[in-house]
Amino acid sequence: MSNLQAVRGTKDYFFEEQAKFSKVVSVATEVAKLFAYQEASTPILEFSEVFKRSLGDYSDVVNKEMYSFDDRKGKSLTLRPEFTASIMRAIITNGLYNQMPMRIFSWGPLFRYERPQKGRMRQFHQINVENVGTDSPFSDAEVISLGHMVLTKLGIGNDRFSLEINSLGDKDSRQKYLGKLVEYYTKYATSLSEDSKLRLEKNPLRILDSKDAGDKKINQDAPKIHEYLNADSARHFDLVKQNLSDLGIKYNINHLMVRGLDYYNHTAFEFVTSELGAQGALIAGGRYNGLISQLGGKDYPAVGFGGGIERMAELMRHSKEPTNLVSIISLCSDAVSESYKLAHKLRESGIASMVEEGTNLSKSMKKALEREAKYALFIGEEEMASGQYKLKNLQERKEQNFTLEKLIEVVQKNEF
Ligand code: HAM
Repeated sequence: MSNLQAVRGTKDYFFEEQAKFSKVVSVATEVAKLFAYQEASTPILEFSEVFKRSLGDYSDVVNKEMYSFDDRKGKSLTLRPEFTASIMRAIITNGLYNQMPMRIFSWGPLFRYERPQKGRMRQFHQINVENVGTDSPFSDAEVISLGHMVLTKLGIGNDRFSLEINSLGDKDSRQKYLGKLVEYYTKYATSLSEDSKLRLEKNPLRILDSKDAGDKKINQDAPKIHEYLNADSARHFDLVKQNLSDLGIKYNINHLMVRGLDYYNHTAFEFVTSELGAQGALIAGGRYNGLISQLGGKDYPAVGFGGGIERMAELMRHSKEPTNLVSIISLCSDAVSESYKLAHKLRESGIASMVEEGTNLSKSMKKALEREAKYALFIGEEEMASGQYKLKNLQERKEQNFTLEKLIEVVQKNEF
């Protein structure tokens, strides 16, 4: 294979695709601001320990998907596979405790060595929110409503996704539940898939979201966590559900959804679509009280989510923003330098413009139409002498002469 290929599972973005990508980022940034989030970014490289201590030794991400390597001093570094652990590490490193509660929005690239397929990349990108320092069930519902608003504002209607929620309870509830789960699965140990046999030893909860047909059958009668939630955990989950209903957000309870990262407790949620084949989760997250202290910091509760930018972009139907681009077409070689001066003046007035190279009128017009310019501005000897320029609205197929001043005004105000 030629070295000139993009690395498997990575992708180059151009034009239309990049426009959709950027739109997801700008809409999410705007919605996060409506919820009073502030932006932060952390390095893409972290000590491997940060993720090993956060995501769980037996999570798929730590076990088989991290891009880890030793640097020249022999320190193990990892390209971040997710944001949450990095952000919590950064809170500890920078001692940001006096700013609690804190709302942090980030976006950027992440890396997981997974088998690439539709909607699953090795370098992918997330928008990510973390609401740190509050244990209130209202904040769980609020974080979910933020995700819901991002999808809505991207034009992804709620007939195209569903919201699945579950409670993983607190530590005590889960301990009790795990005992019951192990008891149940041990009865079927020989029939479980090879992966799930291993999970039974290392991380029995993960058997619940196994994709293996045999495991799925066994899962049907597995004990359900909600039967083992203690009073506090049950109350927390009830309030989350109540608040979601109050906000008019529909949800399904999915007892089998346990999430692939080990730090979650209480609320877990995923916005899923059936339009992307097997990789249906658009936005996923939950509550993760205890992670900061697990990493060596103070004990603060937190809730958040990550949303796959590529997956959301894939679902967007319209991405093209209408532009006011003015293509300047020189009618003779003497007009070329004047064209560049005009382009500069338009840009100084906040109007996008470019000079079509060459003086062949039909070729220049073809180029202007290809780049979907809204206007063509013609400049030849006559125009240079009179200071009156012919402006053609390429979409509405009308044209008129204007002085430069008037031309700038009508384009700025969208009046021609
Ligand atoms: P996650 O479920 O691993 O959670 O990922 C969140 C989202 O990232 C997924 O729902 C999906 O849209 C996208 N995603 C994940 N892997 C890939 C991939 N290989 N290719 C394309 N998109 C992908 C987390 O990462 C948690 N840190 C979320 C969180 C934040 N929980 C609390 N705060």
